[in-house]
Amino acid sequence: MDYVFIFFIGILNCCMAYNVGLLEAKIFSGPSSEQFGYAVQQFINPKGNWLLVGSPWSGFPENRMGDVYKCPIDLSAATCEKLNLETATSIPNVTEMKTNMSLGLTLTRNMGTGGFLTCGPLWAQQCGSQYYATGVCSDVSPDFQILTSFAPAAQSGVNSVCQQTKSCI
Ligand SMILES: *[C@@H]1O[C@H](CO)[C@@H](O)[C@H](O)[C@H]1NC(C)=O
Ligand SMILES: *[C@@H]1O[C@H](CO)[C@@H](O)[C@H](O)[C@H]1NC(C)=O
Repeated sequence: MDYVFIFFIGILNCCMAYNVGLLEAKIFSGPSSEQFGYAVQQFINPKGNWLLVGSPWSGFPENRMGDVYKCPIDLSAATCEKLNLETATSIPNVTEMKTNMSLGLTLTRNMGTGGFLTCGPLWAQQCGSQYYATGVCSDVSPDFQILTSFAPAAQSGVNSVCQQTKSCI
């Protein structure tokens, strides 16, 4: 059973919104078991118009690492492509627990870079036998490459939390 996401082209053009009709609709679908469509953002880069679709349980049932799909609005083929951001999302020099981090739960456009931010709130850092679930966010460039990943709640704590326990990294 797929989650079906219907996108109306007219929404992009505010002033022609009254022209929206079913003929203009594009249908993107993905697995509902992966929560495809949990978060959605319109996105424009030099290559065209896209719909970004978060799929925070991508990997289910083995894991819920999550990912984001890019869906082309301009092309006639309405197929979405997985960006594999879950692989590239990483905080250096810490022991990460990415298994169920649920990347793609949030999608925010980044006006500064022209790209977007996506977060995995269940990312955790392992320190000895403890897990600190601070969450992780990735800053993604306009051409869908990860610029940097950061753990917002642990910026200075990434190392200091573990130094306290002296059993990490
Ligand atoms: C991750 O999610 C899967 C699927 O829901 C679950 O079976 C597994 O126990 C979870 N693993 C961890 C480490 O939380
Ligand atoms: C990670 O550790 C290596 C080796 O200790 C060090 O050279 C590097 O600067 C560290 N990277 C970060 C981002 O802290």
